[in-house]
Amino acid sequence: MDYERFFSEDVAAFLPSPTRELFKKVDISKIYSLAGGFPSPDTFPLEGMREMVDAVLDKYGAKAMQYGGTQGVPELVALLSSGSGEAPENLQMTTSSQQGIDVCARVLLDPGDSVLVDTPSYLGALQSFKDYRARIVPFGEGFSFPEDAGRVKFAYVIPDFGNPSGKTMSLAERQALVELAREKDFLIIEDSPYRALRYEGEQIPTIRSLAPERTVQLCSFSKIFAPGFRLGWMAGPPEIIHQVYVCKQALDLCPPVFDQYLAAEFMGSGALDRNLAASKEYYRRNRDLLLDALGRHMPSGVSWTRPEGGFFSFLTLPGDCDTLALYDTAIKKGIAYVPGSFFYPDGGGRNTMRLSFSYLAPGKFDPAVRLLASLLF
Ligand SMILES: Cc1ncc(COP(=O)(O)O)c(C=O)c1O
Repeated sequence: MDYERFFSEDVAAFLPSPTRELFKKVDISKIYSLAGGFPSPDTFPLEGMREMVDAVLDKYGAKAMQYGGTQGVPELVALLSSGSGEAPENLQMTTSSQQGIDVCARVLLDPGDSVLVDTPSYLGALQSFKDYRARIVPFGEGFSFPEDAGRVKFAYVIPDFGNPSGKTMSLAERQALVELAREKDFLIIEDSPYRALRYEGEQIPTIRSLAPERTVQLCSFSKIFAPGFRLGWMAGPPEIIHQVYVCKQALDLCPPVFDQYLAAEFMGSGALDRNLAASKEYYRRNRDLLLDALGRHMPSGVSWTRPEGGFFSFLTLPGDCDTLALYDTAIKKGIAYVPGSFFYPDGGGRNTMRLSFSYLAPGKFDPAVRLLASLLF
């Protein structure tokens, strides 16, 4: 049967994630994968999880398995409020930050509205904005306002250790973006899933702290607890948070209740801080292993970013290289990466690739990068 006639008009804009499609074909346990941005299972708080589950059951019993309020369980909202200095009415729990992105798009965008993005940008966000039939418009040089930007509703940026760039916006860039947003009157979505994972240097103030009246910040437990819990939160002006709250009633009624109590236990007991310190050590070592291997094996003409945190380094090859065309050969030879063009709304960046250092076992960086380098020219 042909089901086309039953689908909504919006469905025509839905495209599957090219990375998820690409990885369907690949058994990453059999190759060196610098591709997926999964957190390392070595950083999950497996030890102590049984005690945390017991503590949740002892404290809350059946309540932990019941529907909860749409904003989130008050115990966790209170912890996040005191940890961030945000008033509780500025906070909304989400079913992780991907939902935060999608729900912002749903609340703010009409078809044809523009979203400004810093390219390359996070694929999952570009996918969501396209689903809402938005125009995705890259910033001009240095976060300047592009010509023919159209009706800009918001800018979407990942200021700390971006996915895929690994770059961090300087304070001056953040201030310039805020000035531009005030001058041209648009909102800013600040996606911050990696902010807590800084391995060197000083934290830079969040955009939300520079312009609380027009910034929504998206945060996630995925990289500081475990992504399987699908738990995140957002902070923003209460009027916007209220619209998100109403929208979420239709989306999923309430964020996962048991997971929120677990997260509250994880935070409140001090386990989050201890686990975060160990995770940062783990990822910093992996980052150094990747950067050292790149320095050792990459031929001249290849450059890469040196991230101060997060999961990714972004490689630029000479202009005539095509990382998408190389991909199948790379897989056959036993190495995976993500072609950089996936992260450009206009399909640019064909000579770039994203390498993730979060997941590969520490002993595998050197042979993986040596193999990758041998395929390049
Ligand atoms: C920049 C960025 N935003 C959002 C997400 C979604 O993460 P989650 O929904 O697990 O919080 C990711 C995941 O990798 C990401 O890199």
